[in-house]
Amino acid sequence: MATNTLEKKDTVHAGTAPAKTILFGEHAVVYGEPGIAIPLWNVQTTATLHPFAEDAEDQDFRVISDSVNLNEKYSRLPDAMPLKKLIRNIMEAFHIARPPRRILRIESTIPIASGLGSGAACSVAIIRAFAAAYGFEAEDSKISDIAFEIEKCYHGAPSGLDNTTISFGKPVFFRKGKGFEVIHVPEKLRLIVADTGLKSITSEVVTDIRERYQQFEPVIREIGRLVDRARVTLENGDIFETGALMDENHRLLQKMTVSCEKLDELVQIARSNGAVGAKLTGAGRGGNFVALADNALDAQRVKAALEKSGAKIVR
Ligand code: MEV
Repeated sequence: MATNTLEKKDTVHAGTAPAKTILFGEHAVVYGEPGIAIPLWNVQTTATLHPFAEDAEDQDFRVISDSVNLNEKYSRLPDAMPLKKLIRNIMEAFHIARPPRRILRIESTIPIASGLGSGAACSVAIIRAFAAAYGFEAEDSKISDIAFEIEKCYHGAPSGLDNTTISFGKPVFFRKGKGFEVIHVPEKLRLIVADTGLKSITSEVVTDIRERYQQFEPVIREIGRLVDRARVTLENGDIFETGALMDENHRLLQKMTVSCEKLDELVQIARSNGAVGAKLTGAGRGGNFVALADNALDAQRVKAALEKSGAKIVR
């Protein structure tokens, strides 16, 4: 098998990936129910592969990410680290014989551990940077598969919704193991995404729910039925009905114990300031939430009220 080699020596190659927000179905999607998510392009992760300065003494492949305080030679990263595993998998998938004499720099505006898919976005951006540097065609489905393997390191049994939405960069109706359909969402969907500022570790929340699966099974199935209805209202552009279903989805997530006081408080503030619906997004117990407004004025009012209450507006 021929191995791939680096494209032009002196060029910087980049890959980018968006965040995602789950509109309906988080957690239930892990157990085979459908989920609906859309990419968020206004926050992104960018990975770049830079050549070393010609006179640099040490030209061993190095990884730098300021947001996680990482600046280390690839060879010194622990083998179990998801980032190292990702790079190994990329090299294997694309027949790259040895680590590049490059600096891999990862920069992101996606809040970490906040329900917006920062881990999957990081994987996808790095895969795209390698594809650009080595000049190979990487199909979205292949990118998604590689990212999915790394999602498993973050939380044992991911649904695949995050890596799918982020790799394909399209709104999706997704079912674990059954693939996905790109869905049509209204062009002017006035979604407000905001951060509680509380970090939330997806693996911990997912594991906790798994341990109490029996208890939550009826709620999980109810969420599944709701997501089927939400697809119809969303695609029909029925904003008010979609908002009502978001409220209902939040209520069911509360029953699953994945909301928290801060999320409930901010979701309520969004509603009482004009949102037609609001819910947590992602794993919950912190992180982000998403609210829907019917018009630009209401969206502005919701954002202002949330900011005043200490939430950080992401979109
Ligand atoms: C995390 O973004 C969404 C969850 O449903 C987990 C998953 O789908 O793998 C909580």
